[in-house]
Formats: sequence, C-alpha cells, structure tokens
Amino acid sequence: MSETDGGAVSGPDLGTEGVASSELRDGAMLLGHFSGEPVLLIRKGTVVHGMGAKCTHYGGPLDQGLFDGSLVRCPWHHACFRPETGEAVHAPAIDPVPCYTVEQRGGRLFVTGTTSKPAAPAPLASVPASVIIVGGGAAGFAAAEMLRRQGYQQPVTVISADEAAPYDRPNISKDYLAGTAPEEWIPLRPTDWYQKSRVDLLTGRRVVRLMPDARSVELDDGRRLEYGALLLAMGASPIALDVPGAELPHVRYLRTLRDSRTIIERATQARRAVVVGASFIGLEVAASLRTRNLEVHVVAPEEIPMQRVLGAELGRSVREVHEQHGVRFHMGQTVASIAEQSVTLKNGTRVDADLVVVGIGVRPNLELAEQTGLTVDRGLVVDEYLRTSAPAIWAAGDIARWPDRYTGSALRVEHWVVAERHGQAAARNMLGQNQPFTAAPFFWSAHYDVTISYVGYAQAWDDVKIAGSIPDRDCLVAYRKNGKTLAVASINRDADSLRVQVAMERGDIAAVEAIVQGR
Ligand SMILES: Cc1cc2nc3c(=O)[nH]c(=O)nc-3n(C[C@H](O)[C@H](O)[C@H](O)COP(=O)(O)OP(=O)(O)OC[C@H]3O[C@@H](n4cnc5c(N)ncnc54)[C@H](O)[C@@H]3O)c2cc1C
Ligand code: FES
Repeated sequence: MSETDGGAVSGPDLGTEGVASSELRDGAMLLGHFSGEPVLLIRKGTVVHGMGAKCTHYGGPLDQGLFDGSLVRCPWHHACFRPETGEAVHAPAIDPVPCYTVEQRGGRLFVTGTTSKPAAPAPLASVPASVIIVGGGAAGFAAAEMLRRQGYQQPVTVISADEAAPYDRPNISKDYLAGTAPEEWIPLRPTDWYQKSRVDLLTGRRVVRLMPDARSVELDDGRRLEYGALLLAMGASPIALDVPGAELPHVRYLRTLRDSRTIIERATQARRAVVVGASFIGLEVAASLRTRNLEVHVVAPEEIPMQRVLGAELGRSVREVHEQHGVRFHMGQTVASIAEQSVTLKNGTRVDADLVVVGIGVRPNLELAEQTGLTVDRGLVVDEYLRTSAPAIWAAGDIARWPDRYTGSALRVEHWVVAERHGQAAARNMLGQNQPFTAAPFFWSAHYDVTISYVGYAQAWDDVKIAGSIPDRDCLVAYRKNGKTLAVASINRDADSLRVQVAMERGDIAAVEAIVQGR
C-alpha cells in the first residue's frame, strides 16, 4: 500500500476516444483518464457518473475498490464517496473527489469537463444553539467538520488537551516515526481552516467538569462554557508500565504527536531499543525504529504477537515479517526492571537498550463521564445514535461502547476509522438526522510492506478459516463462532475485505459466508 504514482494514468482517454457505452454495465466502474487525471465512470441504471479515481485520504486507487450500488468504497482504508457529488460521505477521507460531466454520443461515453456538484446539506430541522466537543482527536475533528459540512451555522467549540491541532494519529507510529513522512502530512487540516470554518479550537485546554443540568462544561482555567449539545470524545491514554526504572527519561509512550517527536529525537541518539508489548502500536514502533537502523528487541508476555486479535497463524506470520527485518523477539516474557542502559526480563535476561518504548495497551478516558454519573460499562454507553444516558450529550471514538448490529454485541474498539465515523454520525444526529450507526468496524495495521486490514469484531472464536496463503501474503482469514463469521482479516485482498464489510452492514450473514468460502 503506497501512494499512487501521481503521473501515471491508465485505461482509455475519456476525453478523446471515450468508451463504448455497452462496456459499462449497470453497477460497474470503469477506469480511464481525462486531461491527465484518473477518472472513474460509474453506471447507476441509465445514468453514468464521472468522478476522480484517486482517494483523497492517502491516494488509494478507487477503481480497485467497490461500488456497492450507492457508494464507491476505497480499497485501502474503506472511505466512501458518493458518485453524484464526489462527497466523502464516510471517513477516513474527508475531502471530496472531483466530479466530471459525462456525455453519450454515438453509443460511446465521453468525459467533457469537470463539474462542481457540492453536496446539498440535509435540511436542518431543529438544531442545538451551540455544540461543544471535548477532544480534538479523530472523533472530535470529524464531528466538527461534519457539522459545518451539513450547513450548521451556530457556534462550534473543540476543546482539546493536546497542544497540537487535530492530526493523523495512525501516522505517528508509522511513516512519520520512521522518518519517511513529511510534516505536512500530519495535520488533518491547515491551521487557517478552523478560523475559516468558524470552529473555535481551544488546544492545550482540558475539560475538568461536566454540568449537564446547567448544560455547561468547566475548563482547567476556570472558564465555564454553555452548550446546546455536547460531544464527548476524550479518547484513551496509554497504560503505564509498573516496574522499577519505568520512570527513567528514556522510557517513552506513544499516543500524541509530541510523544512521537520525542521518540524520534531520542532515536537519533540511541542504538538499541526495547519495545515492551507486541501489540499493533508496539510492532509498528519496532518497524519504524528498524527503518531508522536501531537494533530492536520486542518483549511481550504472550507466546505469539497479536494472537488475541489475529489468531496464531497470522500472528506467527507477522512475527516472521518482523524477524526478516531484524527484530528480535522475547515472547512469553515480561520486564522485571529498567536501568539507564539495559532492560532486565523476568527470566533474568539482560537486554542492552538506550531507548524503551512501552505499548501495553490503553484505557479509555472515562473519568469525566464517571464523575457526572453517565452510564458507564467498560466504556461510555451510547445507543445506536451515539447518545449517552444524559440529554443532549453524545459520545464517540475510543471511549464509546455502542450496540453493533451485525455481532449483536455492545462494542468498544480503538480504531481510527470507527472513531471518525462515530464523530460524523453523532454530528449528523445532533442535527436531527436520526441515522443509526451501522458501519462494521474496520482497522488497518502496517508492518513494512505488509498491511493487514480487519473488518468486524471477534473477541473470541471457535474456528478460523483461511483462504489463500498467509506466507504468500495473499489471504482472507475468517474468525468464526458457532458457525458465524464475526470478523475477517486480510492481506492483499482489499476487494473481499470491502465486500465483507458491505455484507456485514447489511446484516447479510449468508453473503459474508459466501465470500469467506470463496463463492
Ligand atoms: C500511535 C498510534 C497509532 C495508531 N494506528 C492506528 C491504525 O493504524 N489504525 C487504526 O484503526 N487505529 C490506529 N490507532 C488508534 C486510533 O488512533 C484511535 O482509535 C483514535 O485516535 C481514537 O480517536 P478518538 O477521537 O476517540 O481519540 P483520540 O484521537 O485519542 O483523541 C482524544 C482527544 O481528547 C483529548 N482529551 C482527553 N481528555 C480531555 C479532556 N478532559 N478535555 C479536553 N480534551 C481531552 C486528547 O488530548 C485528544 O486530543 C492508533 C493509535 C495510536 C496512538
Ligand atoms: S487511501 Fe482511501 S481510505 Fe485511505
């Protein structure tokens, strides 16, 4: 998964030669180009739409994604675009793709130019007098952006304990940490966007109290701000390692951009690193530090990395990929103590290290919700519209536990795309759109040139079905319980991953099984 080659285009020149109308059947997509830009034609019944073929998130090739009859879905991180308007309806893409005019002449389809078809905001029935968003991460940013996109004109305030404006958090353990992503990739929006969009962004400020009866919040500088509607999106915080030496300055955690910059700074001086935890973040950090040529040791209590989420087969393969890149594993081990130049494991092994990065999990930031008496059950409980137990208070992202239709369970996950989509859905629902949240959870994780995509949610399973080949990095792995597929992980099977997500969202168990069985 890499950025598309900006210059290369393929398929017919839709401006000059066009394409036979009969080549594009109903519900299909066709890739061509116009004025040097990749263009996708999509047929919806008798109407053919033209839209840009490059995803506005990381440049994914939309022609290799899926048209589900309504939306075009990106193969890389599953953003959804509306062919009629180019709007990025569902994150992680936020910006629209361009739209093109399509004409039919002599049985052929031609693109004749670009056209602007701004998405018409839904009529706003009764809207809150103002919105306060607590948290400037994935969910908070996506909610603020969606409120404005929907034409909401009243005050929007985002209060964020982070000193940085909202940024691309997944990148800070991947390309950014590896030193292969420029700074300008990181902010989700340029700084002047907030002013232009009239989003009042208060960074480096913490909300310390919620007062639902007075519909107001208190900030750490003593200010009180009133709201018409409140979105709680405080995310999660890393769990601290509790061993002697864990407070030493070379022991670092990774949640914020500042954390990432600190690790980068230390990595430029360090030679050997110990990563504590073989989770997604831990292993992404290991990969990034290897790219920086540090010697890297991973220490974790489980026998196989990521086994709890991905199962033994895929977990072993992830380990092999890292070993091929020189990472050394100490599995079935925990840290006993840390000194300035070494880490001692429970079995007595001493590993030299002048940098230690801890990634042993996170805890949702639920203190405000608990103090306020909102319903909390291993997460802030919300209904399918993302509403909490208190009037006019919504929740989104890592803190929220929502009722998932496909699995029939209440879920709380720590996924970027879910957090952004929660934020978008909460914003729409604050404006009275009453759209239940039905997106099947999705996350991705990158390890060197191997990217794993995961759709659905399986906490436990009694059967794993593997289609394709894990060693060949071409596989679809289904996690099943009582004969039902709960989740699917894949490598280089993006179209199948998308098809599974659509089927899950439609509650179509038979369709999920058919994809998993290769039918
Ligand atoms: C390094 C890293 C890499 C990741 N990579 C991936 C990935 O590849 N794929 C994936 O799917 N997921 C990934 N994730 C997970 C993903 O980033 C999170 O699920 C997502 O950011 C959650 O969004 P959120 O808005 O709920 O919380 P966050 O993005 O954490 O934002 C919460 C915000 O709330 C603020 N806040 C907290 N308390 C208060 C308060 N009292 N007052 C005001 N502000 C407050 C915080 O400062 C922060 O700005 C990664 C996470 C990390 C840390
Ligand atoms: S590149 Fe399209 S969703 Fe990420």
